[in-house]
Amino acid sequence: MNRMHLKVQLSVTLTALLVLLATGTVQAQKFFKANPQINPYNFSVVKEQSYNNAAVTSAHPLASMVGAAIMQQGGNAFDAAIAVQFALAVVHPAAGNIGGGGFMLGRKADGTLIGIDYRETAPAKAHRDMYLDAKGEAITEKSKDGPPASGIPGSVAGMFSTHAFAKLPMADLLEPAIELAEFGHVLTEKEAGGLNSQRADFLKYSAAASALTSKEKWKAGDTLYQPELAATLKRIQKNGLAGFYEGKTAELIVKEMQYGGGIITKADLKNYQPKFRKPIEFDYKNHHVITFAPPSSGGIIIAQMMKMIAPFDIAKMGFNTFESVNLMVEAQRRAYADRAEHMGDPDFWKVPTASLVSDEYVKERMKDFQPGVAGSSKITLAGVPKETEQTTHFSTMDKEGNMVANTTTLNGSYGNRTIVAGAGFLLNNEMDDFSVKPGVPNMFGAIGGEANAVQPGKRMLSSMTPTLVTLNNKPYITIGSPGGTTIPNQVYEGLVNIIDYKMTIKQAIDASRFHHQWIPDRVDVESDFPEATIQALKAKGYTVTKRGRFGRMDGILINETGKLEAAGDKRGDDSVAGY
Ligand code: GLY
Repeated sequence: MNRMHLKVQLSVTLTALLVLLATGTVQAQKFFKANPQINPYNFSVVKEQSYNNAAVTSAHPLASMVGAAIMQQGGNAFDAAIAVQFALAVVHPAAGNIGGGGFMLGRKADGTLIGIDYRETAPAKAHRDMYLDAKGEAITEKSKDGPPASGIPGSVAGMFSTHAFAKLPMADLLEPAIELAEFGHVLTEKEAGGLNSQRADFLKYSAAASALTSKEKWKAGDTLYQPELAATLKRIQKNGLAGFYEGKTAELIVKEMQYGGGIITKADLKNYQPKFRKPIEFDYKNHHVITFAPPSSGGIIIAQMMKMIAPFDIAKMGFNTFESVNLMVEAQRRAYADRAEHMGDPDFWKVPTASLVSDEYVKERMKDFQPGVAGSSKITLAGVPKETEQTTHFSTMDKEGNMVANTTTLNGSYGNRTIVAGAGFLLNNEMDDFSVKPGVPNMFGAIGGEANAVQPGKRMLSSMTPTLVTLNNKPYITIGSPGGTTIPNQVYEGLVNIIDYKMTIKQAIDASRFHHQWIPDRVDVESDFPEATIQALKAKGYTVTKRGRFGRMDGILINETGKLEAAGDKRGDDSVAGY
């Protein structure tokens, strides 16, 4: 349990209350007045809890509580997802966003699947060599820092498309975020530290100072007020999509582009459209897995990896032993090699999805796997199919049986670190997820080629893997994580932990992780990974690197008694709520 310092909180609460009374704004806090159980100035992280009716798990306690309250007052899992997305844009600005994009995967109670791709797109003026210098060398910072790194944001449009499956008015779902921005919320230690670490970049890459830079050094217990963000959210509340993609907000985005050398125009914003994608489905040991299709690579990758390991008795091999890690890493190597070669935006590149996940292809790919032997990424290249740290995830489930897995991102932590002057929100640096030049690694060390080259209107390849699982055709799990290219591996390992190792969802999420992405030819492990397995891997010729931690996985599982077990990753402020 993370508890703010009571003394600091009391004084902050009192100050906030005095401000609100003096300005008569208590009246204006419709949502928080109706939901006194949520206190933006005094809250705790809840890592694990079972609920009878509905549950949310997300990167921030306030966002999770907002989602649960929305369902308690008559909304469903889709309403909750929309309210959580907007709330995260206020309370978790490192990755929660309205200036980025993502994927919403939903399963309605009647079994209908919905995949909404609200990934950013390359602006009309983008071109394949836009991040190369005169000599043809990659200028890698240009796709990461400041306005030139931004794709056209998709999050707001994505939430309006999601709204078709919700029950409450959109205005009500925006209200909690507006109130959190206008009347402030107390920063956790991690959120304060994040803002401090990026302060210099915020000032360097933005036209003006903003709420996020209003203090030299933030600390836990400080209240963050974001009036410009509140005004932007109010424009969306009042004018719908036009409140973001047209009018004042669009003007402010374009002005920021002009200041910082970006290329997004008013027409780019007005033309942005989310797309419905048919989810990828496959079976793994009696479980039915539903996950996201391209332009996410994640769904194909986890389908390939889980099919590759399905013939093996993983439970017998033991959790994180040399034997199980050797097998699972060799599946990772093969799937990620295919990612680099074959995956991109399906509207621009013929992604051979059906072949890549077919039983025959996957079997063929594992033909040269030799148990106990370290493979090599020089030998294992992409297959030839016959036919041509920062993101955030949240999950919601309601009592009707609807479930949502939603992963959303600005790409890097705080995106391109550009806060749109006068509009108060951060922009993404998603253009770095394109392959800026064949063979040149992006910020996650991933390489790509023609399939993922920059083209106007194209969506950059993603690793986000929002995933649902059904058991006997009934809702079972909703899960996902941030973490760039580590995401598909986290979801893969999380599902194996539950299905093969019979862990609870909390144990599965917290368990120590490993990651191989073909190139670099290296097994990354978390710092608490078993030393004996590291030594055994090294002895067999693997290069093993200890990395602090990967991602922040959040999930909900319906157990055999019908209870919703919600779990937030130990690695962050991730927190659950429900009723
Ligand atoms: N920006 C991280 C991803 O989409 O994979």
